Amino acid sequence: MEYSLSLLSYETVKKVLFKFDPETAHTLAGFGLKSLAHCMPLMRSVKDRFFISHPMLAQELWGTIFQNPVGLGAGFDKNGEYILSMPALGFGFTEIGTVTPKPQKGNEKPRLFRLIEDLSIQNAMGFNNKGSYYMLQRLKKLYFFGYPIGINIGKNKLTPENEALEDYETLLKAFREYGDYIVINISSPNTPGLRDLQNESFISALFQMAQKLTDKPILLKIAPDMSAEDAIALCRVAIDAGASGIIATNTTIDYSLTPRAKDFGGISGALLKEKSYALFRALGKEFYGKTILVSVGGIDSPEEAYRRIKAGASLIQIYSMLIYKGPSLVKEINEGLIGLLKKDGYTHISEAIGADWKEQS
Ligand SMILES: Cc1cc2nc3c(=O)[nH]c(=O)nc-3n(C[C@H](O)[C@H](O)[C@H](O)COP(=O)(O)O)c2cc1C
Repeated sequence: MEYSLSLLSYETVKKVLFKFDPETAHTLAGFGLKSLAHCMPLMRSVKDRFFISHPMLAQELWGTIFQNPVGLGAGFDKNGEYILSMPALGFGFTEIGTVTPKPQKGNEKPRLFRLIEDLSIQNAMGFNNKGSYYMLQRLKKLYFFGYPIGINIGKNKLTPENEALEDYETLLKAFREYGDYIVINISSPNTPGLRDLQNESFISALFQMAQKLTDKPILLKIAPDMSAEDAIALCRVAIDAGASGIIATNTTIDYSLTPRAKDFGGISGALLKEKSYALFRALGKEFYGKTILVSVGGIDSPEEAYRRIKAGASLIQIYSMLIYKGPSLVKEINEGLIGLLKKDGYTHISEAIGADWKEQS
């Protein structure tokens, strides 16, 4: 039997979902994704339609094969509940979390807003999640099913700053055998004091500790709201202390980007695009060839993904534009990338990664 989603285009789904408040819409979408995982024939059919596996895009990073470079950004699947469905939406990898040691409710609602005219989202979720034990049970059920998973970890809101290192230690120990990479998140604007941990002494202590606890690659995810010099200095400390990569960027607290912004939470999507690119480009110039770089923030097209790749990204992630454009965006980016690589005479994505800096030398 031919299962087809053509009648149920994302525009139709979006019209329904956008009638609900954003958090309810997210819960409904999650319900759909969980149901999809229970219906193998449908999932296979959707995967055949959306998932691109192509020799020009496949890469081995940290010993893991990524069939394509387009991943789901952290925060969409906070509890690792939709992992099975994500390849069917076309994603080459998924970053789950942010997970904290203990479950927590997150900030008061409403805390998630659509800035529709700006093709952006503003969120002040505050790491609402079911905690590390729940996620561990999810991963134990799934692991290993041959699809790259990143685990994004953060401290609990009630953990004081001087005990933050212990939260990361607990999480690194819990997940040391799971996932293909682990991300240290100290860049969310929605946990008070978290971004203060973006300082050199904390980062250095954290990565030195992390290296003793696990052989998994540990990445640092940074905020867009710092100068390129500060970001470079911070990332250098992390890399020197053993970080295996950098993810740039998280959401921005630059509320001057739109008159429609609330004065709390982080902005993502189109409004973040140039800011995120600018910081990523500065990091690419400095660190291309020295570590693995992942770009996230406002990516909305194959051209934008390609721009990040040429600036040094081995992988890219999307979140907000998935909400506005639907999963066909993932396929569009992957197919578009193949075309753009060919147009520039490349035979594999690795030749284009950091091309901006290779051409200069
Ligand atoms: C609703 C929402 C929740 C998010 N939660 C997290 C999170 O828990 N951890 C994290 O590292 N990033 C989180 N992010 C940030 C995204 O992973 C990403 O870095 C950011 O949204 C920029 O990408 P985009 O413009 O493609 O959305 C969240 C973003 C949104 C919109």
